[in-house]
Amino acid sequence: MRYALALLAAVSPALAGVQEVWWNITYVQQANPDGLQPRRVIGINGTWPPPPIDIQSTDDLVVHAYNSLDQPMTLHHHGMFFNSTSWMDGAQSISQCGVPPGQSFDYTVPISTNGQHGTYWIHSHAGGQYVDGLRAPVVIHPPQEKHSYDEEFTVVLGDWYHDEHSVLLKQFISVANPGGAEPVPDSALIYFAQNATYMGPIAGTSPDPVTAAVGFNENATLPFQPGKTYRLRIVNTSAFAMFFFWIDGHDMRIIEVDGTDVEEYPTDLVTVTVAQRYSVLVTARSDASQNWMIHANMDTDMFDTVPPALNPNITSSVTYDASKPITDLGTIDEYHDIDDMALVPLDVEPMLPSTRTIPLEVTFDTMDDGTNRAMFNGQTFVNPLVPTVMSEMSLGQNATQVEAYGPFSFVLNHLEVIDIILQNGDAGKHPFHLHGHKFQIVQRSTDYTSDDPTLNPPINETQTNPVRRDTVQVPSGEGVTLRVVADNPGAWIFHCHIEWHLQAGLAVTFIEAPLEAQARNAIPDVMYQQCAALSLPTSGNAAGHPASDLLDFAGWTLGPYQQVLGWRPKGIGAMAGCVLTAVLGMMTVTWYSLGGHISEEEMEHEARLQQEEKRRRGKFFGLYKPKN
Ligand SMILES: *[C@@H]1O[C@H](CO)[C@@H](O)[C@H](O)[C@H]1NC(C)=O
Ligand SMILES: *[C@@H]1O[C@H](CO)[C@@H](O)[C@H](O)[C@H]1NC(C)=O
Ligand SMILES: *[C@@H]1O[C@H](CO)[C@@H](O)[C@H](O)[C@H]1NC(C)=O
Ligand SMILES: *[C@@H]1O[C@H](CO)[C@@H](O)[C@H](O)[C@H]1NC(C)=O
Ligand SMILES: *[C@@H]1O[C@H](CO)[C@@H](O)[C@H](O)[C@H]1NC(C)=O
Ligand SMILES: *[C@@H]1O[C@H](CO)[C@@H](O)[C@H](O)[C@H]1NC(C)=O
Ligand SMILES: *[C@@H]1O[C@H](CO)[C@@H](O)[C@H](O)[C@H]1NC(C)=O
Ligand SMILES: *[C@@H]1O[C@H](CO)[C@@H](O)[C@H](O)[C@H]1NC(C)=O
Ligand SMILES: *[C@@H]1O[C@H](CO)[C@@H](O)[C@H](O)[C@H]1NC(C)=O
Repeated sequence: MRYALALLAAVSPALAGVQEVWWNITYVQQANPDGLQPRRVIGINGTWPPPPIDIQSTDDLVVHAYNSLDQPMTLHHHGMFFNSTSWMDGAQSISQCGVPPGQSFDYTVPISTNGQHGTYWIHSHAGGQYVDGLRAPVVIHPPQEKHSYDEEFTVVLGDWYHDEHSVLLKQFISVANPGGAEPVPDSALIYFAQNATYMGPIAGTSPDPVTAAVGFNENATLPFQPGKTYRLRIVNTSAFAMFFFWIDGHDMRIIEVDGTDVEEYPTDLVTVTVAQRYSVLVTARSDASQNWMIHANMDTDMFDTVPPALNPNITSSVTYDASKPITDLGTIDEYHDIDDMALVPLDVEPMLPSTRTIPLEVTFDTMDDGTNRAMFNGQTFVNPLVPTVMSEMSLGQNATQVEAYGPFSFVLNHLEVIDIILQNGDAGKHPFHLHGHKFQIVQRSTDYTSDDPTLNPPINETQTNPVRRDTVQVPSGEGVTLRVVADNPGAWIFHCHIEWHLQAGLAVTFIEAPLEAQARNAIPDVMYQQCAALSLPTSGNAAGHPASDLLDFAGWTLGPYQQVLGWRPKGIGAMAGCVLTAVLGMMTVTWYSLGGHISEEEMEHEARLQQEEKRRRGKFFGLYKPKN
């Protein structure tokens, strides 16, 4: 703690205050937020959910975390920059080894100096702990809000599993699941917070004791008064599910996206993928003659199967007068995504010309060990033995050599402007999150393989103020170009925020400006000690070998790898409608495995088949999209 305050003193202007919270991270037995099944979760001080954090942007935050779990733990402040202190970012194996059981760590979050405000969240970035509940919203209030409103609420959305993450992960990454079907949530949760407190259940309801302090789903309500304008900060804390959110009888105007204030943008529904945040303004009705349903429908397109017991459509309500009935308009005409490129930031930031492109293509495959993994550019991510930032800080001049960090790494030069060209070659949609930065979304294509400029347009370099956010959704077969300025020396992970996909290897690391990082701050000693306590190395290349053996990865197991030419589109054969394609595909594979020579053209032919399969699958699902 002395360290934390010393660091803050060094980085903060004299007047900044420090808000401290003490979190004892504990297992909590018999939590039952959905009212369907009690289970063990991860909470704080024996309670769940972990408390929301509200802070003024003129203050800094210190989270004193004590790990009462039986496994290493980290906390990631999603979307915060940690400018030049990337080891505070909480990404296990990238920025730290993890807080060992029975030890504490003080996360120092600079806010007063980094110009950030808006809606964020805090969650574990280790061992899937956030899926087990270690997640909470963080709201940062600027001295003066750009938009005006009377009152605000935070809306927390999340998917919910009845089994613990470790159990589900074993089933997911398994030879028994070669198609990589993700665990389907057992339910969804919606709950509300205000002034750093969760809102209790509606009077008269009596939810299960352990989680009874908070109102969930039908037992939660937002009190509205006629004529007032409310800001709702919507945070999606899902591990997997995307939500469609709307309020019967009320229109919404988007005013914030991932901490970026934007011009008012009217919408009938808000699509929030994992880890994204939106604020909307909602003007209350002028009459209190009835109450209205709030809807949060999970997008079930991504679910391999929709179990009959699953209710993907949860509701809560807006209450004007508790004695009046609730109006439920039930359905929505059509689900649609928000065109985030149409959102206009209030603080104008022009596009800088890019100096480098980094193409990243997403695929999933059954690998040579029989499990299904995710890949960027054909490589599945494996945690380095040495946290990447510790390699970066310890390798001296050699830290600029990308080979030191493993095959899924990129070294960025200081202040370089990069275009990440992200291409989703998978059949599912994915939310991608870059740590330590916001990117500008400068281009989207609806078919990244197309030569047709209406489907795959070139980047418009004359955009004056592209939207900036930290998490972007990319649908199947689509592409997006993210422009990022490398202005934050350190080591940062870029990954799919669907927890299952991160664990299946859908990540790369950016080692940014190593020499500048070395010249700035130093990693606190306690972080090295905690690695030692976990018997993990803290210097040298990703496998812990010194600069003299920079390319030696002995002791570090990379892979699994793609089967030679056995590449199959994910989920093939899972859909009855695709049987023909599957049979064709299997014939091709059999032929390949019999040693047939593969030419470029045949590869391309196979790729086209895959594309066609994906398109068909998309259409197939489309039939089930509500159109009423
Ligand atoms: C957790 O418990 C400690 C010790 O009783 C207390 O100081 C701290 O404020 C509590 N934190 C929360 C978030 O309740
Ligand atoms: C954290 O909680 C555990 C379990 O309740 C308790 O045994 C431990 O003393 C607490 N530790 C701290 C530092 O508060
Ligand atoms: C939050 O603060 C406002 C204004 O101080 C108050 O009206 C409201 O009841 C508070 N809400 C909760 C949930 O404590
Ligand atoms: C709401 O409260 C009722 C009891 O009044 C309880 O049976 C139900 O499980 C609760 N629902 C949730 C989601 O907590
Ligand atoms: C939250 O994100 C998940 C994963 O993308 C998505 O399936 C779910 O619909 C999102 N929830 C909301 C309310 O947007
Ligand atoms: C969920 O809501 C959608 C859209 O209104 C609807 O099409 C679907 O049938 C609902 N699902 C269930 C299980 O109620
Ligand atoms: C590491 O850097 C040293 C100089 O600092 C150099 O002599 C050596 O060749 C470098 N190693 C590699 C593998 O580049
Ligand atoms: C490029 O963006 C500018 C500024 O938003 C706009 O005026 C122009 O029409 C766009 N050009 C194309 C080809 O879309
Ligand atoms: C980090 O701070 C420097 C100034 O010290 C600034 O130029 C840069 O934009 C900041 N980066 C981020 C991501 O905030």
